[in-house]
Formats: sequence, C-alpha cells, structure tokens
Amino acid sequence: LIAFFQPKRLAGKTLLVTAGPTFEAIDPVRGITNHSSGKMGFAIARAAAEAGAQVTLVAGPVHLPTPAGVRRINVQSAQQMFDAVLPLAPQHDVFVATAAVADWRPAHITTHKIKKEGGKAVPSFDLVENPDILAAVARLPEADRPWCVGFAAESHELLKHARQKLERKRVPLVVGNLGPATFGRDDNTLVLVDAHGHRELPSGDKLTLARALVAEVAARLPSQLD
Ligand code: CTP
Ligand code: CA
Repeated sequence: LIAFFQPKRLAGKTLLVTAGPTFEAIDPVRGITNHSSGKMGFAIARAAAEAGAQVTLVAGPVHLPTPAGVRRINVQSAQQMFDAVLPLAPQHDVFVATAAVADWRPAHITTHKIKKEGGKAVPSFDLVENPDILAAVARLPEADRPWCVGFAAESHELLKHARQKLERKRVPLVVGNLGPATFGRDDNTLVLVDAHGHRELPSGDKLTLARALVAEVAARLPSQLD
C-alpha cells in the first residue's frame, strides 16, 4: 500500500540499473567474485518502478525476487554485464550502476576442472582487466547517454575516492556508501557527491534509502524543456 502511494516522480522515464556481483570463471567449477548482496540495486529498481519509471535491471548472480513491474536480465560475468548494458543504455533516461563488478578476470578459462594432483605445484593464472561499464556508458555521445549515477563503496577516505570516481568516470553523481561494515552503524548511510559538494541522506533501511535516492535523481534530471 505504501508502494502504491509513492509520488510518481519518474513517470514517463526509463531507468537502467546494474546490481549484484559478477562472477569470473577460472574453470567450470571455480571463479572470482565480489561481496555484494544486490539488495541496494534491487531496492533502487523497486523504488524507481514505484515512482512510475519503466525499469530494466541487469543483475549478476544473486537469489533475489524481481521487483514488481521490472524487466530483469541475468548475467554472470563483467563482460556479459557490459554486453547487456551498452546496447540498452541509449534507450534509457537514467543509468544507476550499483553492481560490484569484478575488476579482473582470469585471462584464460580452463575448459576442464583443474585437478589438485596431490602435493604438486599450486596452479597460477594471469588476470586481465574487465571493461568499466559505468565509464563506457558515461562516454556515449550525448544524444545516447543516460544521466549516470555511480556508486562507491570504500573501506577508507570515502569522500576523496568518491570525488575521484566522479571525475574519472565523468558522471554527475556518485553515491558513497558508508556501510555498517566500515562505520559500525546499524543502518546504511549514503552520501551524495557531486561537482558542488556532498550531502548525507538520512540513514535508513535500503528501501527507504532507495526511495530517497530516486527522489534526488528525479529532482536532478535535466528537464525536457532545456
Ligand atoms: N563499475 C562498472 N564497471 C566496472 C567497475 C566499476 O560499472 N568494471 C561501476 C560500479 O558499478 C560503481 C562504480 O563504477 O558504480 C565504482 O565502482 P568501484 O569498484 O568503486 O570503482 P573502480 O573504478 O573499479 O575503482 P576501485 O575498485 O579501484 O576503487
Ligand atoms: Ca572496482
């Protein structure tokens, strides 16, 4: 019922969101991944749909229910997430990158399971860097480029790193995550970092934060009349 009465701030808008971790295969049974529950991205997808947006959610491997009315595309690896997002981006007004994308993947995927062969040398493998999905979307030609929001989960010096990401990825807004793991708080706190400064959103559960963030995004979207 609360969801039904959310103001329709994004009516007529389209929003694309990435969520969850990515999984980079080493062999058919092993891989590299990041810690990410996917809950923040799913909450943003839900809040945006409640606000009247048409929402596409590109999700890494997580077991979360798809929010009502949201189109979901499941992927595993960073490259698959990149391949799904880039063609979709020009069809969307807003792109919110919450995914915890693995920065590197094994250079070669072994087609057979690597065996221990007891006591012999441990395997080693080279890594290559994954494409930066957010930076690529933010560099699309202006006519194709959605309004981009990045996330920054940092273990230290959050504001400094969030500001660097704002500039390096050329996005108008970065959301810093002062997570409970790093700051000992029960609720999550989000800090909005833009070219002018920073401001904390009132702390709350992820859906409350997602709704507040959607309201912020709606207020910052360039108007169609400009
Ligand atoms: N991101 C992305 N594609 C990547 C890496 C990151 O789209 N290959 C996005 C994330 O979804 C997030 C933002 O970029 O919105 C910042 O991600 P983060 O991992 O904090 O930044 P990195 O540039 O990867 O820097 P580092 O991990 O070294 O802090
Ligand atoms: Ca990273």
